Amino acid sequence: MTYEKITVAEARKADAIGKDILLQGWVRTRRDSKAGFSFVELNDGSSFGNIQILISKELPNYETTVKLITAGSSISVRGVVKESPGQGQATEIEAKCVELVGVSDPATYPLQKKGHSLEFLRSIAHLRVRTNTFGAVARVRNRVSFSIHQFFQENGFFYVHTPIITASDCEGAGQMFHVSSFDPDDLPKDDGGKVDFSKDFFGKPSYLTVSGQLNVETYCAGLSKVYTFGPTFRAENSNTSRHASEFWMIEPEIAFCELEGNMDWAEKFLKRLISDVLRDNAEDVAFFNEQIDKTLLETLQHVLSSRFIRLSYTEAIDLLIQSGRKFDYNVSWGIDLQSEHERYLTEEHFKSPVILYDYPRTIKPFYMRVNEDGKTVRAMDVLVPKVGEIIGGSEREYRLEVLETRMKEQKLDLESYRWYADLRRYGTVPHSGFGLGLERALMFLTGIGNIRDVLPFPRTPGNCEF
Ligand code: 4AD
Ligand code: MG
Repeated sequence: MTYEKITVAEARKADAIGKDILLQGWVRTRRDSKAGFSFVELNDGSSFGNIQILISKELPNYETTVKLITAGSSISVRGVVKESPGQGQATEIEAKCVELVGVSDPATYPLQKKGHSLEFLRSIAHLRVRTNTFGAVARVRNRVSFSIHQFFQENGFFYVHTPIITASDCEGAGQMFHVSSFDPDDLPKDDGGKVDFSKDFFGKPSYLTVSGQLNVETYCAGLSKVYTFGPTFRAENSNTSRHASEFWMIEPEIAFCELEGNMDWAEKFLKRLISDVLRDNAEDVAFFNEQIDKTLLETLQHVLSSRFIRLSYTEAIDLLIQSGRKFDYNVSWGIDLQSEHERYLTEEHFKSPVILYDYPRTIKPFYMRVNEDGKTVRAMDVLVPKVGEIIGGSEREYRLEVLETRMKEQKLDLESYRWYADLRRYGTVPHSGFGLGLERALMFLTGIGNIRDVLPFPRTPGNCEF
């Protein structure tokens, strides 16, 4: 007798009925019926739903093995797929042979059937993927990562690996983690008593990157359409539900493209991620809609079918002032918009995603193209309901003199950025790009309100567990 190894997802489909199969996974629950059966709910991560396994007490190892199966145990089951008489499931398994691979101690196994708070589950991040919520998040995260590559590859973009270790501060915010091989208890000092970085590993101060943009721009100026997708790091001490110290960012960069074209790409890209997840993760999304956010499906469908509002920063400031709303942080032209302002615009006023553009030059990094008015730059932020800023991007300054003025304005060392300025010396072109925070996108797609629950192992200020 041969049993074909299949996944729980495959076994749950009606076309598996009649097959002799091998299933392997982790037990969610086991209960015994008076009629002489054990019912096991098995999950192997391949789908949201479990499969029910009927184990007869006639099996020779029923008393010695089956009775020991507890929640969390790993098992191998050989059996046949049957049509299920039960509601809400097409199939079930009639077990012929059951092996207990790894038992799970019921006295200490922390996942109980009753369900747990997300806060508690964070403290057992190594086991939480076995819950409905975190299994679903993991599958959506996987699907989105794949869609990102599909979208760009199908549209003629090249994937570029930008460095994780860098000496430049792309965003100019000074929120970088140092990379060093110094012994912290024995730092070499120069004559002035300052740490002598010329003696460090790279011969100068180096950091974990906050963005791959500056590097990916160089490949854009040769390959035309590129993207980088990797981990980025920010040492900002903001303990919010939307900030992580380590997160993944997708950064496309497009040559011969101005801000309007950049907005079009961002909108098309986000919509593609939504439609792929709605199609391929229907069960997961239905669960999020039921358990996490009852408006999720409606919101995703609405965003998919509506054109994103495009509004200048100046218009947004006027709107916020005219709203008569009392914000914690006062609104006036020149401020950096706070989350409360962004949420007012996208959740209350427009009830739709909003692309804000043309921000004051004083609050944006050196690389953004300066507008004719001299006061604003060609920046754009995409804001979505509940999450706020999901994408930040801009048209880049491609005029050498203006770029150098901006660098001086922001007190950058021109010599260190000479390679970046070279792109403006040799065949400069208008170009644009943006960065999507993968976790912000996942919060939006799942309705999950805290970034700590869409990262497998979140790193936030004061927290580097697992
Ligand atoms: O707006 P940001 O800082 O833009 C850049 O880094 C540009 N270099 C991107 C580019 O033009 N190529 O970050 C981009 C996005 C934000 O909109 C947000 O979604 C996400 O990255 N992000 C964070 N996500 C989680 N935790 C943090 N601490 C984040 N900081 C930014
Ligand atoms: Mg930003």
